[in-house]
Amino acid sequence: MLPTILVLNGPNLNLLGSREPEVYGVATLADIESHCRRRADALGLALDFRQSNHEGELVTWIQQARGRCRALILNAAAYTHTSIAILDALNALDMPVIEVHLSNIFRREAFRHHSWVSGAAHGVLCGFGAFGYELALEAAARLIAAGDATR
Ligand code: DQA
Repeated sequence: MLPTILVLNGPNLNLLGSREPEVYGVATLADIESHCRRRADALGLALDFRQSNHEGELVTWIQQARGRCRALILNAAAYTHTSIAILDALNALDMPVIEVHLSNIFRREAFRHHSWVSGAAHGVLCGFGAFGYELALEAAARLIAAGDATR
């Protein structure tokens, strides 16, 4: 069975393509998902790609990844900067977490400079637009292969 990577997207990311394109680019979330599917196929990974505007739903999905998925790629969007509930759920995970942001959050408003997610993340990718998700998949594949080799 192929290792499953869970890709979670937080609030307002369903609006990508029309939401502040000068900040987030013109790719829709469906475009990003199809690029990720192509890259996951090439890397021999199964993909579970989701979006929610609800913090609790994201927490539930993170919990349900335990024992089912091998890595989590997370763009928690605005919850990045506010959600201790998501941080707690991440800390209960037994797999690498890769934090992704389309924009470079450190070039933006000061309130975006702090991420609760980062404290539980293996690594962070920000500022590469939609391509950041594909880079995160590459990183996930490497981390899984490295973990398998040391098992
Ligand atoms: C974001 C950055 C967040 O600060 C913002 O709230 C988002 C998107 C990004 O992908 O650049 O909704 O996570």
